[in-house]
Amino acid sequence: MAEIVAIDDQPEVLELLEQLLGPEHRLHPFRHGEAALDFLARQGRPADLVILDLDLGPGHRPGLEILELLRQRHPELIVVILTGKGSIDEAVRAMRLGAADFIEKDPRLAQRLQLQLAKVERLRRVADDNRRLRRRCAWLEERSGPLPEMIGSDAGLAGVWRQIQDLADIPRPVLILGERGTGKELVAAALHRAGNRREGPFITVNCAAINESLAEAELFGHEKGAFTDAAGRRPGKFELADGGTLFLDEVGNMPVSIQKKLLRVIEYQSFSRLRGSREIKVDVRVTAATNADLPAEIAAGRFRSDLYDRLTFDTIVVPPLRERRQDIPALCRHFITGFRREVAGVRCRDISPAALALLADQPFPGNVRELKNLIERAAYRCRDEVIDVADLDLRPGGAEAGEAGGGGLRRRVAEFERRLLRQALAASGGNLRQAARDLELSYDQLRRLVKKHQLGAGRSGDN
Ligand SMILES: Nc1ncnc2c1ncn2[C@@H]1O[C@H](COP(=O)(O)OP(=O)(O)OP(=O)(O)O)[C@@H](O)[C@H]1O
Ligand SMILES: [Mg+2]
Repeated sequence: MAEIVAIDDQPEVLELLEQLLGPEHRLHPFRHGEAALDFLARQGRPADLVILDLDLGPGHRPGLEILELLRQRHPELIVVILTGKGSIDEAVRAMRLGAADFIEKDPRLAQRLQLQLAKVERLRRVADDNRRLRRRCAWLEERSGPLPEMIGSDAGLAGVWRQIQDLADIPRPVLILGERGTGKELVAAALHRAGNRREGPFITVNCAAINESLAEAELFGHEKGAFTDAAGRRPGKFELADGGTLFLDEVGNMPVSIQKKLLRVIEYQSFSRLRGSREIKVDVRVTAATNADLPAEIAAGRFRSDLYDRLTFDTIVVPPLRERRQDIPALCRHFITGFRREVAGVRCRDISPAALALLADQPFPGNVRELKNLIERAAYRCRDEVIDVADLDLRPGGAEAGEAGGGGLRRRVAEFERRLLRQALAASGGNLRQAARDLELSYDQLRRLVKKHQLGAGRSGDN
C-alpha cells in the first residue's frame, strides 16, 4: 500500500483520484499546497508519492512554487505533476525542477495513473534498496573487520551467555555492567550477533569521547548549514543504526544535556535532524555499557534517573577475569593468534604451562584487557616459539597492596610471599638458583616455596 498525497483545488479531481486509486492505496487529499506541506512536516514517515496540480487557483501558492518547496524539504519524495490540456510548457518547467513525471487530465487519466503507480512501486523498491545499501556501506566503513569473537567457556560466564541468548531478540535496551576491561563491548557485539538484527548495522557511540556541542549532530545528524562548517546533510548514528543496534559505550559519561534527548529517542524511536523539520522514524535496538556506578552518578546529579530506568530493561553484569580463570589459557592463545595475524614476523605461537601457571592466580585488576596487553608484550619480546615465564613482565605495582588483599594475617602474608616469589622468578627468567640468590634463600628453601605456592615454574639454572 502506498501513501499518496494529492494536491488539487478541484474536489472532483481529488474524488476521482480516490476512486481510481482504490482501497489498496491511502490517499491524503489537499485543496492547496500549504496544507500538504504542513501535513508532510508533521508526518513521521514521508509519503510515497505526491500528485500535484500546477494550477491551484487564486489565493494560494502556485504549483511550481509548491514543487520547489517540496524538493527542498523532502528531496527524496517522488512528485508527479497533474496538468490540464495545453500547459505542457509548465509541465516541462516542473520536470526541470525535479518532478518525476507528468500526467494529463484527460479521459485516459485512470490508465496513466496505474502506470505511474507501477513506476512508483519500482522507484520505491530501488530507493529502499539504496537506503539499506547506503546504511550498510556506512556501517562497513565505520567498523574495520568483523565483530570480534568472544572467548568464554568458564562456568563464570555461563549466566552472561544465557542472558545474551534470552535478550537477543527483544527490542529493548540492555545495560552491560562490569569492571574495566571485562569485555563489555564484546558482550554488546555478541548480543547483536545473536539476535534477529544480526544482518543490520552495529553502531558504537563512545559517550566519553563525544563533544558536548557536537553530540546532537553526531547522534541525530544534521541538515545543511546547521553549523558554519557543516557542509551538507549528514545522517546521525541513530539513522545509521536503523534496523540494527546502537551501542552507547561508557554511557555514564554522556553529557547531561544530551541525556534527555536520548531518552526521548529511545522511547519514541523518532527524532529530527539538527536544523531539520522532518521527524525521522527509526527502528533501533539500544544497548549501553559502563563501569561507572550509575546509582551514585544519579545521586550526584550527573545521570538522569529516567534514562537509567529506561536503559535497564535488563542488566548484564560481566564478571571480572579473576572469577573465570579457566578461560585464561584459551584467551592467551586467542591473543597470540590475533597478534600474529596483525604483526608480521612474530615467532611465538604458544605459551608454556609454567607461564600459564604463573598467570593462573594473578589478580588482573585490568581484567581481560590487562591479560591481552601482557600476552602481546610477551609475544613481541619472545625470541622463541613459546612464551615462557621470563617473557611475562608481571607488573608488581598493581596488585601489591590492597587488591587481592582480603583475609587474615596468615593469608595476606602468604599472598605477599607468593608475589615476591613470582616477581623474583620473572626477574630471573625462571632461573631458580638466581631467584633464590635474589631472595637470599637457599635453593632448597626456594624450591619448597615454589612448590607450596604451586608456581611450579622455571629452570633450575646451572650457575
Ligand atoms: N571474552 C573475551 N574474548 C576475547 N577477547 C576479549 C574478551 N573480553 C575482552 N576481550 C578483549 O579485551 C579488551 C577489552 O575488552 P572491552 O573493550 O570489551 O572491555 P570493556 O569492558 O569495554 O572495558 P572498559 O570498561 O575499559 O571500556 C578488548 O581488546 C577485547 O577484545
Ligand atoms: Mg569499553
